Amino acid sequence: MRSKSMFDGSWSFHKGEIRIPYAVKGGMTGGITDASSLKEGEWLDIAFNDKGMGEQQLEWSSVNLPHDWCVEQQYVQDESLGSRDGSHGYLPGGIGYYRKTFELPADAAGSKWTVRFDGVSGTSTVWVNGHLIGSHHGGYIGFSYDLSDVLRYGEEGRNVILVKVDATECEGWWYEGCGIYRHVWLENTDRLHVAEYGTYVTTPEVTKEQAMVNIRTRIRNDYTEGLPVSLRTVIYDGAGLQVCVKMEDAYADWYTETELEQIFEVEQPMLWCPESPYLYKAESTVIYEGKELDRYETVFGIRSIRFDADEGFFLNEEPLLIKGTCNHQDFAGVGVALPDSLIEYKLRLLKEMGSNAYRSAHHPPTPELLDMCDRVGMLVMDENRKLDSSPGGLSQLKRMLYRDRNHPCVIIWSLENEEVLEGTVTGARILKTLADTTRRIDPTRPTSAAMNHGWNENGYNDAVEITGYNYGHREHLNIDIRDHEQYPERLMIGSECASYTATRGIYEDDPVRGYCSEYGTNIPSWGCTPQQAWSDLVNNRFLTGVFMWTGFDYRGEPTPYLWPCVNSHFGLMDTCGFPKDSYYYMQAVWKDEPIVHLLPHWNWPGSEGKRIEVRVFSNTDTVELSLNGKSLGEQQVDKTGYLSWEVVYEPGELKAVGKRGGHVIAEKAVVTAGQPYQICLYPDRLEGQADGLDTIPVRVAILDEQGHIVPAADNEIRFEVTGAGSLLGVGNGNPSSHEPDKSAIRRAFNGWCLALIQTSPAAGSIKVKAVSMGLAAAEVVLEAAPGEPLFPASGTII
Ligand code: GAL
Repeated sequence: MRSKSMFDGSWSFHKGEIRIPYAVKGGMTGGITDASSLKEGEWLDIAFNDKGMGEQQLEWSSVNLPHDWCVEQQYVQDESLGSRDGSHGYLPGGIGYYRKTFELPADAAGSKWTVRFDGVSGTSTVWVNGHLIGSHHGGYIGFSYDLSDVLRYGEEGRNVILVKVDATECEGWWYEGCGIYRHVWLENTDRLHVAEYGTYVTTPEVTKEQAMVNIRTRIRNDYTEGLPVSLRTVIYDGAGLQVCVKMEDAYADWYTETELEQIFEVEQPMLWCPESPYLYKAESTVIYEGKELDRYETVFGIRSIRFDADEGFFLNEEPLLIKGTCNHQDFAGVGVALPDSLIEYKLRLLKEMGSNAYRSAHHPPTPELLDMCDRVGMLVMDENRKLDSSPGGLSQLKRMLYRDRNHPCVIIWSLENEEVLEGTVTGARILKTLADTTRRIDPTRPTSAAMNHGWNENGYNDAVEITGYNYGHREHLNIDIRDHEQYPERLMIGSECASYTATRGIYEDDPVRGYCSEYGTNIPSWGCTPQQAWSDLVNNRFLTGVFMWTGFDYRGEPTPYLWPCVNSHFGLMDTCGFPKDSYYYMQAVWKDEPIVHLLPHWNWPGSEGKRIEVRVFSNTDTVELSLNGKSLGEQQVDKTGYLSWEVVYEPGELKAVGKRGGHVIAEKAVVTAGQPYQICLYPDRLEGQADGLDTIPVRVAILDEQGHIVPAADNEIRFEVTGAGSLLGVGNGNPSSHEPDKSAIRRAFNGWCLALIQTSPAAGSIKVKAVSMGLAAAEVVLEAAPGEPLFPASGTII
């Protein structure tokens, strides 16, 4: 029966090039055929020395995946790092090697063994037991290799897998990281099995009363004779109860795939939507001569989607405004190597902001992100890396489509972003090939392209169903709105909006330190305020949705400044997920619950008697502002804008009170804080899974004696983590910080920093202590609760 084991544990890592002798490079086993007798660690050296390549001083360190070595390096002021100035966050790429040894039992021989990499930076090359298995280019889509022939089973010896990661070249203009930064899996199946990504579940007819569920299953027969097989498919509901079952007999020809189609009727289906992301599961069992040889599960949702040129998007025939953010994949403390729990954390922060859609800019996301979007109810614009119809480009696109087409969360395939060929004849041909390839593999979702020019030239946009507008509003040109008048039949979407540059907790532009004011006084020419991006959509439903650039700040692309900035400033949250002021604007317009937020903070020593602009974001009817108990007036809330008061500064409490129908329903106050006095720890959870991967973000605040946040505090914090966990990384959201993220020390930035605590594989308590000179220390105890360890111990027989 099929097994899928996480293959992330106990790798060795070597940073830098290794000269690999031709015999090994060429796939021959010369020189290492006797490797079965070698002890762990000896294989490479022996192989090299035998080939006369001389001694190589290799330093291997132990790592678990996912791993990003780029983030472990020092920042270098070198504009040439990256594809554009500063685009890679002033961290160098490079070459690294990963190696892992493992054993398999003798009876594992004869079945199929596949290694699957979900994402490896740049160009990777894999050798197993000295055999060159393959090279893959493209760090954003997974690949897999059948290892069955070259593995060693039982007494044949230990297996060695070696992976070269060449992340010297950049694929994009953002921080891309370096390493095996997503999961690796080892899969075992019978020779008769469901093919890779071998099911395709669609829901061609959906009503509240009944849904038609169509499941196509490809069965792969790797025996050397044709076999009569049966396929049993069972649909289970979210509670695990059987909903319907179908059995189909077929003849599976050998060394090929056979596709079967089964059609189900699900009565009274529970429809998938962001508020209620109900999931079903299809279990496909392959049976030969009464014996179950393979069982494969596909999670799916029942839902319908429709796009309309006037009214935008409909989910299950209900209109739905797409409240999206674009996101790159990195996070503080970890670079691009995010444990699943951090991906989930990021999605939760976006959900809490009121967002219902995620654009994975500018490449396919990690597969787990889509599983989570299915579960939490987040719509996804799934994006292909680039406009490329070469064999390599098409192969990346196809892998994304086959991998992702069963996810109910995915509603649009985005085929490219801002390529120079947009609007050209050649570009149109390439885009059409990508779109046709997509329609062939999944006709149930529209294709789109996230364009920033050439919308109306050479039929480029006609190659896709939905024309994406990146910054259609730029410089008040309202390109998208004008295009709608001219092409009323065109389906449109605000594929990228805002690019509002702001630094958390900063209220004055500071080109020297590289900070942008939260008032938005230094936003790029193509950008706009979140208020404009949102009101454009509300006033023009044909725009279907917005995807704000971006949900989170990301490393690299430090617009508008270069060094000392190493991060972007576009996020509604910073790199740690701390909200900027605009986050609360989005909350106010995206959520139903009453929100009142005011800015700036209220610590302006030396500004007594001067006027300060106070802004309030709210979705109540009215807001009254008061300073030290004295009313500064009540204003009617502008549903897509913000309120503003000129306030003569005096220290104390500034308070905004939101009312609906005359009743107070929300309020928020900022208080002039005193000197930094104490540290306070806010763990996101008190309990994690003791699996060696689960990561709990702990927010760290600097408070005064009364417990108020000190808005400009930048005290240096030292973390001591003991017990059943360790410190995975730190961050503070300061776009110009050159402190290492892999460290036990971090300064606060404007009152906050973040510590990521990762559980160990053994259950127990984790004590997290934060200390700083002159401040009262803080301590919290987290629990790593027993669970299945994700990593088998080194060399474990699987
Ligand atoms: C867009 C681009 C993004 C990012 C953004 C910055 O043009 O698609 O990747 O560069 O601008 O504003």
